[in-house]
Amino acid sequence: MERKDKITILILDDEKQFTEELSDFFQGSDYESFEANTAEVARKILVENKIDLLILDVRLPGVNGLDILKEVKVLFPDMEVIIISAHGDMDTVIKAMRLGAFDYLRKPFRFIDIQIAIERTQKYLQLQRKLKQMEEKNSLISKNLEERIDRQFIGVSPQILDVFEQAVTSANYPDANVLITGESGTGKENIARIIHYSSVRKDHIFCAVNSSAITETLLESEFFGHKKGSFTGAISDKMGFFEVCNQGTLFLDEIADMPFNLQAKILRATEEKVITRVGDTTQIKTDFRIISATNHDIDKRVEKKKFRLDLLHRLNTLHIHIPALRERPEDIKPLLTHFVDNYATKFNKPNIHVSAEVFSELLKYDFPGNVRELRNMAERAIILCKGTILRISDFPVRQQKALVPVVQSVHVDLKANEIKMIRKALQDSKFNQKTAAGLLGITRDALMRKMKKFGITVSKGEEE
Ligand SMILES: Nc1ncnc2c1ncn2[C@@H]1O[C@H](COP(=O)(O)OP(=O)(O)OP(=O)(O)O)[C@@H](O)[C@H]1O
Ligand SMILES: [Mg+2]
Repeated sequence: MERKDKITILILDDEKQFTEELSDFFQGSDYESFEANTAEVARKILVENKIDLLILDVRLPGVNGLDILKEVKVLFPDMEVIIISAHGDMDTVIKAMRLGAFDYLRKPFRFIDIQIAIERTQKYLQLQRKLKQMEEKNSLISKNLEERIDRQFIGVSPQILDVFEQAVTSANYPDANVLITGESGTGKENIARIIHYSSVRKDHIFCAVNSSAITETLLESEFFGHKKGSFTGAISDKMGFFEVCNQGTLFLDEIADMPFNLQAKILRATEEKVITRVGDTTQIKTDFRIISATNHDIDKRVEKKKFRLDLLHRLNTLHIHIPALRERPEDIKPLLTHFVDNYATKFNKPNIHVSAEVFSELLKYDFPGNVRELRNMAERAIILCKGTILRISDFPVRQQKALVPVVQSVHVDLKANEIKMIRKALQDSKFNQKTAAGLLGITRDALMRKMKKFGITVSKGEEE
């Protein structure tokens, strides 16, 4: 849906009569105009409003108009400037055009001339906006293409074959919502993408959204979009996730963390497939499928009244549970082989073999970070490996955390160990949370949640 935007103009000229007359001329037109007779007033207006076009008299008393032009081009690069120069001052005009002015008018001029100049600018601004939208869409599509290439789901265990079969069923029913559960790093997002790219929705957007990573105040506008000016910061009309995913798939990660007051709105949008942008009244139809994922016990959230039961029912038309890697040890070997091959190619280290002891030792490990942890181990091992054989010593994780037998002693204090490991990873990564999460084989979000849960804070000076 295309909307013709009203363009906002600021006229900066020291002649009050001129700015007033021009403003009157603009009354009732497609423009919204502001007047300023000094640079100070102009600066204030520019900061408080989203101005599309500045009409600037370069001959202002006490200030160099070209300096103002330079200043606004740095501070507001999207704003266009038409300068007004005195008759015969071609030198200034040339300098202004070099500094990025869009057009110029020489005094005296007829108001119709300025209207023509503004219309030219308006067309240009509209083209710029369209181009920006196309670029955004293009980058989303190319990102999607990249993700489509080399997306594989490895595993030989009966559990993983069952997951795969359920994914195929989900792909065949492109309107049914799917809920994927499983511990962190088990491959929930991976399966979500496989479902999308095997379904008739594959040529449209797969948009992954982690609602716990968006501030609560912005959530509604991120999901539903907004109309320009509906709140501070809404500088242009914006599509929300529901609209962007028209004919595609909206992947809602960490669904259990969705703020309660947004859940009713999400439910309505999911049921009606009609949305309204924040600050607008137009109803927009959109056809999306929701695949959601969580590593929390969502039923518990429902019990605690943190998650709406009706929304859960809407989201889990189909439910896929991915078991933890420790519950399907026969997948470790094919997964490790797959990751080693990939990283050996990536880091240009051909002919690398994995020694048998690595497989047998890793079978004893319980992989709290699941497949992600195994993948990170493989990457590190390939980077550190000197020869052509990968030995267990190439897996530094094994030295940091002793391999835990699958059956754990009941006396082990899991919480204390987890806190210790998180602190160690933070220290080893010089308090860079992303690196620390990588060391632990979990996502940054998961690390932040755990830090919050255990009250682990990073004091000032330590922070990234
Ligand atoms: N069966 C599999 N075959 C190949 N790669 C896999 C498999 N399962 C997981 N992976 C890889 O492991 C990594 C983690 O998977 P993914 O991000 O899908 O996990 P997740 O369950 O969404 O984790 P989280 O709950 O932390 O978000 C990814 O790089 C993914 O490609
Ligand atoms: Mg995930």
